[in-house]
Amino acid sequence: MRDSHYLHRMLILGLETSCDDTSISLVDMDFSNPLAPQSKVVHQLVASQTDWHQPFGGVFPEVASRCHMEAIRHTTETCLQQAGVSLKDVDGIAATYAPGLIGSLLVGLTFGKALAYAQKKPFIGVNHLEGHLNAPLLQEADIPYPQLGLIISGGHTALYHIKAFGDYRFLGGTRDDAAGEAYDKVAKLLGLGYPGGPIVDKLAQQGNPKAYVFSKPQIPELDFSFSGLKTAVRQLTDKMSPEKKQESSVIADVCASFQEVALTHLIEKTLKAAKEHDIPAILLTGGVACNSRLRQRMKEEAAKQGCSVHVAPPKYCTDNAAMIAYVGGRYLHLGKESPLSLNAVAHLPLNQNLSHVR
Ligand code: KG4
Ligand code: ZN
Repeated sequence: MRDSHYLHRMLILGLETSCDDTSISLVDMDFSNPLAPQSKVVHQLVASQTDWHQPFGGVFPEVASRCHMEAIRHTTETCLQQAGVSLKDVDGIAATYAPGLIGSLLVGLTFGKALAYAQKKPFIGVNHLEGHLNAPLLQEADIPYPQLGLIISGGHTALYHIKAFGDYRFLGGTRDDAAGEAYDKVAKLLGLGYPGGPIVDKLAQQGNPKAYVFSKPQIPELDFSFSGLKTAVRQLTDKMSPEKKQESSVIADVCASFQEVALTHLIEKTLKAAKEHDIPAILLTGGVACNSRLRQRMKEEAAKQGCSVHVAPPKYCTDNAAMIAYVGGRYLHLGKESPLSLNAVAHLPLNQNLSHVR
């Protein structure tokens, strides 16, 4: 074990390649208060693959890993250069090792391990979901615990009770589609392009949320479901004439009506969890946390229950390497490291940590 806990400042290089963004970040962490370190994102670069996946209406895994292979070295070098930082100045390297697309994960993980080996730097593998849950702390270091974390992205919809950094209990999750997946599928039904979330968000602002009535998903406990809602949108659009389906006011109304029900479902479950577990601080994270209406509604409705809502800026809600560097930095500071034999894992629950062996 290295004596990293004596360091008050650490500069961490983060690598995130679990899905379709090659993201590289440098995060400067100040551990004067080790339980709530202050961090500053020195620089972050994202090589987006959206144009490559657009024709498929979703992420094509083989294309994703090839794009990561092409982008990773150049993106890392450019990130360091633009920040005016040499690899020698870096105190530790963190890369996502799970969960995600296996071919994509392997690129960032292998590249990170190779850099760490060549530069004799400590290395740590980070769980992508742990990165998302900690993203709000990048800019708000001292959000009080316990926290309730809602991860809403293209691949995940889950609620976690966070008792302290590193202590996460799964409370509930989607039984079918993820929230972002539902946005993407509805956008596809309406011929709006990929990724659908930001487009539906924007169009919904001009639509009437009461124009069409979709019933709210009925699912017990703290679980979620979005596939029935998506089917209801499909049944509605199937009944429309091709001309009507192309009218911009109709599209905006469908987007607004779908979104209102989807967000009510997310908000009601989150507030139920906060009440049942007596948690006053709610953290929203993942791509869907960029949603403008969700941010506004969750803040208003949580305030009525005495809860505060914490959301990172959009660039730290979607997949990003800063959140991976942050989590990696915290573990490295505690003296934890991963062996260079650490492998990528496609499916891994958050409480099953394979990365800290030392
Ligand atoms: O966290 P993320 O970048 O990647 C995954 O780990 O999946 O999330 C991407 C998802 C996509 O489904 C995208 O449509 C959705 O987040 N998204 C949004 C918005 N921005 C991105 N959904 C709703 N409203 C938005 N403004
Ligand atoms: Zn993600």
